[in-house]
Amino acid sequence: MIFVDACFGKDTPYTPVWFMRQAGRYLSEYMEVRSKAGDFLSLCKNPALASEVTLQPVDILDVDAAILFSDILVVPMEMGMELGFFKGEGPKFSKTIDSFSDVKSLSLDSSSRLNYVYDTISLTREKLHKDKALIGFCGAPWTLATYMVEGEGSKTYAKSKKILYSNKELLHALLEKITHNLKEYLKCQIKAGVNAVMIFDSWASALECDSYFEFSWEYLKDIAQEIKKEYPHIPVILFPKGISGFLDRIDGEFDVFGVDWSTPLLQAKNLLGDKYVLQGNLEPCRIYNRDSMLSGAKEILEIMKGKRHIFNLGHGMLPDLPRENAIELVKFIHNYKF
Ligand code: CP3
Repeated sequence: MIFVDACFGKDTPYTPVWFMRQAGRYLSEYMEVRSKAGDFLSLCKNPALASEVTLQPVDILDVDAAILFSDILVVPMEMGMELGFFKGEGPKFSKTIDSFSDVKSLSLDSSSRLNYVYDTISLTREKLHKDKALIGFCGAPWTLATYMVEGEGSKTYAKSKKILYSNKELLHALLEKITHNLKEYLKCQIKAGVNAVMIFDSWASALECDSYFEFSWEYLKDIAQEIKKEYPHIPVILFPKGISGFLDRIDGEFDVFGVDWSTPLLQAKNLLGDKYVLQGNLEPCRIYNRDSMLSGAKEILEIMKGKRHIFNLGHGMLPDLPRENAIELVKFIHNYKF
């Protein structure tokens, strides 16, 4: 698989490409299947339909990898927190984590309740062309913890950080419990058939440098190390969003570093490119305009020169991005001559 080869830094005939949030609302085909399922969470829990939307971007865009259709928040949900997704408001938990007894009430065994995810994986792997990779994923402990403490997305993360600065033992207890669940969950995804795993730390940018390494990166490294120890042939991709100022402190045992769009790619290459394969980092909004998209892509390709690089966006696809441009972008990457 060209994508897996690229994750391990092997030479490939062209730069492989896929897009974060490549399955989603910008595709009318996705909207049709979602309405068949009823709502977003029902879609995640329906392996036949979740598998169908996982495969859509491979068929429509010809990307080199599919990413499992699910959500990072199914793990806290199966740890025992009631979750809803509300139109225009995003995800919400009905209760929040405030105390040690709340942490204690959370399950250590969510992975045994996520069979709908593993069924989606095996169904998808059966149907996916053998040259295309299937990526499994989870959220980073820190990112999941913020949702569990705030109960929803937040602009300031004030509640999570209040705990961080006034009761760090509580935050560590929560992070440890989440980490335990995530290790088991990723191993189950691998057993079900994913070819790589990615950890999304979407709210990495909420923390100052020392706090980031203590409350997030250490846990990401721990998960990555455990996966690499048991499954050395499965690439591990880490994506911390918004920490371009801390790249000189990035270390650990993993294969691919996901570069967000706010990080100058040349800077990431100079600091991390020898140690890790880089994935990224076109600013997603460039896809609104064909010329901006192609000039941005060219710049990225010329920095990486087809070596130790997987093309991606610097964050997820947006619901109103024009699909024709996304299709053209994949063709442009595949046909690019260095
Ligand atoms: O195509 C893919 O990338 C695979 C599926 C996927 C989804 N969410 C589907 C989804 C993946 C990998 C995720 C990860 C995820 N979920 C992250 C990390 C990546 C990132 O974007 O930073 C986060 C922070 C979440 C939590 C989440 N899920 C939010 C905040 C929202 C609402 C925001 C929004 O975009 O509406 C979701 C809902 C969600 N997850 C949708 C999809 C396709 C939209 C739901 C819908 O159909 O209405």
